[in-house]
Amino acid sequence: MMTPVTPDAGMASIMASLNAIAARLDRLEASEVETEVSLEPVAAPVAEKPRFRVPAGSVKSLQKPNVISRMDQAPAQQQVEKFSPLGDSGPYLGEMFGTSIRRSPIIDAPVSSSPIQVTTIGDTHFHPGLDHLTTRLMLLAGIHVAETRTPYLRHIGDTSDFASLCRHTRNDTWKARQKPSIRQDLDSLRLNWDALNLPLELYNHKPQKRVTLGNHCAWAETFEDANPELKGLITGERDSIFRAHGWEVSAYGEFAFLGGVAFTHVPLNIMGKPAGGQTPEVTISNQVTHDLVFGHTHRRNSVLRPKMGYNNRVNVVNVGSAMPEFYVGEYAQLTQGSAVTYGISQMTIFDGRIQSERHIPWREMEMMYGKTADALQGRSL
Ligand SMILES: [Fe+2]
Ligand SMILES: [Fe+2]
Repeated sequence: MMTPVTPDAGMASIMASLNAIAARLDRLEASEVETEVSLEPVAAPVAEKPRFRVPAGSVKSLQKPNVISRMDQAPAQQQVEKFSPLGDSGPYLGEMFGTSIRRSPIIDAPVSSSPIQVTTIGDTHFHPGLDHLTTRLMLLAGIHVAETRTPYLRHIGDTSDFASLCRHTRNDTWKARQKPSIRQDLDSLRLNWDALNLPLELYNHKPQKRVTLGNHCAWAETFEDANPELKGLITGERDSIFRAHGWEVSAYGEFAFLGGVAFTHVPLNIMGKPAGGQTPEVTISNQVTHDLVFGHTHRRNSVLRPKMGYNNRVNVVNVGSAMPEFYVGEYAQLTQGSAVTYGISQMTIFDGRIQSERHIPWREMEMMYGKTADALQGRSL
């Protein structure tokens, strides 16, 4: 027989059931939320290039070749440490035979993602007998740099022929009677820089200028070495002419970096000789680890060499000569006469690389700036 239910007991039972149902509904809702969160998201289509997986914080250094990163951290001005077996700090330290100089890289501008524009003048081989031609060319180059407001100007070396110091032609030979004097060579150097600077001054444009000395420039060092009484006399006046005309000077064979790209007259091989061969650009691009601009052979060329790795390559540009058109040095008449190029080079550098390069022949320069040059010809500051 069933026990009769009192009204109070019935209500309590119903409330307990309702509470149990509510609690169960709460649990169900909670489980539904969890179910939603644990759903696998739909994979988005790949719209970006694959990137390296790198530890956090190291992305910046990985975007550039290591050598560039090292140069970024190097001081702006070249630091030179000298070592001597004597351990002293005498005036000849670093020049003394058997001592060495530790060099840090020369960096005129760091690697930048903003485009850097640079005009490069190749080997000019100024000669007192050619001043009437080369001063015109330097005038054209100066007008170009001034009108385009190019912020960096480079001369790749062999500025002067320095025929006076040529040791390949002995002074007791018939040929040597045609040699100019050292005085004439130095005056010619000054005259041609005056011509280049004239439009820069008139247009009030002051590019950062650097000359990377060539082997002909370095004949001065070799000559002084062979004639010790003259130590510092010729090189001293040569470099003071450069400085007086706003040029910074780097040694023959030394690299000077601009936006991660090296500029030098010609890279020296492990034996200290200029990189040679029929196409030295190929040899150099196989060995160098960054983009490089050089001259020396008087033949314009550009080699883009891919490297193993991610987006790895080097571009080696030979800017050719900036000598008067058709001129070939006396010493090279039969070796390269048909392959010499004559003009300047205009480049854009960013991300540590040469991104564009254009050879502008002198005749095109004459077409673009000839009238302006005519107006300036013969003027002096
Ligand atoms: Fe040269
Ligand atoms: Fe050279």
